[in-house]
Amino acid sequence: MLTEVTATRYVTPLREGGSLPGIVEADDLGTYVMKFTGAGQGRKTLVAEVICGQLGRALGLRVPDLVSIQLDPVIGLGEPDQEVQELLKASGGLNLGMDFLPGALGFDPLAYEVDPIEAGQVIWFDALINNVDRSWRNPNMLVWHGELWLIDHGATMIWHHNWPGAGGWAEKPYDASDHALARFSPEVETAAAALAPLVTEDLITAAAADVPDEWLVDEPGFDSTDELRRAYVEALLPRAATVHERIILGEPSRPRVSQAPGWLTGRHEQKGARA
Ligand SMILES: Nc1ncnc2c1ncn2[C@@H]1O[C@H](COP(=O)(O)OP(=O)(O)OP(=O)(O)O)[C@@H](O)[C@H]1O
Ligand SMILES: [Mg+2]
Repeated sequence: MLTEVTATRYVTPLREGGSLPGIVEADDLGTYVMKFTGAGQGRKTLVAEVICGQLGRALGLRVPDLVSIQLDPVIGLGEPDQEVQELLKASGGLNLGMDFLPGALGFDPLAYEVDPIEAGQVIWFDALINNVDRSWRNPNMLVWHGELWLIDHGATMIWHHNWPGAGGWAEKPYDASDHALARFSPEVETAAAALAPLVTEDLITAAAADVPDEWLVDEPGFDSTDELRRAYVEALLPRAATVHERIILGEPSRPRVSQAPGWLTGRHEQKGARA
């Protein structure tokens, strides 16, 4: 079980995230980035955050601590933004909290060097959980006190959106060509040798046990939340031993050219520029 705290103050929305996460303070005096059950992405995003966040930390990767947060929407009454008000209203009860890392910077692959061992471990982990959301466009990593931290595991384990087809995912390749750490000569074989033996049935079972029951109930095709937890274990476990063989590290796709005008970005437009 995750530690459960109660939100005491809604501080501010984090404008960056697609799911409109917010910063809240809680009765344990902690400050958390809160992901809401009422967000459009749905509660499976939170399930993925818990299982993958707990797994990542158990494997020795840096993932901020997770808690579950009781929210009484009344604490957001002072929030002027209509969209935030709606989100808070739709999210009474248990939400997910991630320890807020104050002063952390968004990871920039051109400004921060990652050693090949660590790059390999992160890419291997992302292949295991099928993370499609750690590209150079949207790295979902932070640099805090000079170290790399992994956040945002909401877009992982794609198979949990279609359980009947989940078995087929064990053999599928993982294309890491656009991964934010692909340029650091990632040692995925070394990572596999170190991490795969740690991904045991017990470890995944413990991570799945941390998901609050209310995010698992009423999943079509499952009679109980324990049966659904078991399905996560069965989907992840067979991937660990051989997933490194299916990691593709090819040429990254070309960066999109900014559509913003040159006067805004500081870059001079090539076409039609006056001499
Ligand atoms: N633990 C944290 N400490 C400090 N800042 C954080 C933390 N978690 C998230 N943030 C900040 O909030 C932003 C949004 O967080 P996150 O990526 O988890 O949200 P999201 O809604 O899932 O985003 P998206 O789907 O758009 O990638 C991050 O890019 C980062 O700037
Ligand atoms: Mg994100």
